[in-house]
Amino acid sequence: MRKILAVAAAAALALSLSACGRDTGTPATGASGSSAAAVKGTIGVAMPTKTSERWIKDGDNIKQQLEAAGYQVNLVYANDDIPTQVTQVNDMITKKNQLLVVAAIDGVALKGALAEAKSAGIPVIAYDRLLRETDAVSYYTTFDNFKVGVQQGTSLLAGLAASGKPKPWNVELFAGSPDDNNATFFFNGAMSILQPKIDDGTIKIASGETDFKVVATLRWDAAVAKKRMENILTKSYASSDVNGVLAPYDGISRGIIAALKGSGYGSGGKVLPVVTGQDAELESVKSILAGEQYSTIFKDTSELAKATVKMIQEITSGATVTVNDTKSYDNGLKVVPTELLQPVACDKSSCKKILLDAKYYTDAQLA
Ligand code: GAL
Repeated sequence: MRKILAVAAAAALALSLSACGRDTGTPATGASGSSAAAVKGTIGVAMPTKTSERWIKDGDNIKQQLEAAGYQVNLVYANDDIPTQVTQVNDMITKKNQLLVVAAIDGVALKGALAEAKSAGIPVIAYDRLLRETDAVSYYTTFDNFKVGVQQGTSLLAGLAASGKPKPWNVELFAGSPDDNNATFFFNGAMSILQPKIDDGTIKIASGETDFKVVATLRWDAAVAKKRMENILTKSYASSDVNGVLAPYDGISRGIIAALKGSGYGSGGKVLPVVTGQDAELESVKSILAGEQYSTIFKDTSELAKATVKMIQEITSGATVTVNDTKSYDNGLKVVPTELLQPVACDKSSCKKILLDAKYYTDAQLA
């Protein structure tokens, strides 16, 4: 009996090592090619912060779905602190977690730790945010980030047109954290729609601030965005109104709206400008339904978790990994094979139905 157990343990170990050691960096497409059962160890999941609702949902969804599939989960959050995240990832490697799922705070800062993962034969999936300047990342699961920006720009223009305000429209631009690869994609996507309107004089940027580095918001911090909006209002809008603000994420949108309200917008006949967003955070969805924030971009995080868990099962069973994009995400060292999900824009006319249909919120939450 003891001998049988020893043989079984050795076989399991061999399977585990071969699953970990296979070249997961090779772009793979097509249907799953193997029916081998997954080796189910502990999956390390490193999330950036709990200050944003979405990452809590992301972590919960991945944990729940992985546990239901028979894995153990080592889920950690790093309080938006880069050294904390580096330590957490190193710890996962020391503990020989079977595979790492990482939503980075800074896309480059983990490259040293990830090199260790690679030499330990631990596959790495970049989750939502690309891991840059490393060849240790095997795959990437995310939403179509350029399209998110296109949707934000398109929604801003739709809101401006619906506002009935005369052209040229006064618009201000905000972008996300410069160390998050997504921020550039969102901004470039939005500018692909807005730049022609700036060029033809339909849109005026009174502050003159259009450069990504200048409009970026470190750590996606609402307080930083609020401060910058306050400064812009003081400096550039003493004798005119701002009609629209490109905001890349709901937390930033709420910071901007707070600055606007502090300056008299939203009362006494001074209407709030059209403000975009992203993530369909509950507070922002309520703000949209109340007619304050104009729109958001809904990214169904349970679907992203599902795609990631499927990928983990494929990797840990040695099956062919299915991805739908092998050209968009160059991390500086390699083009990372990516599973891209589709974002959905919503505003006051559509948010409620979209979010209830997706079961993202309940009726009671949105009442
Ligand atoms: C991005 C992410 C957005 C938003 C933002 C701030 O990386 O793609 O959906 O959550 O971070 O957390």
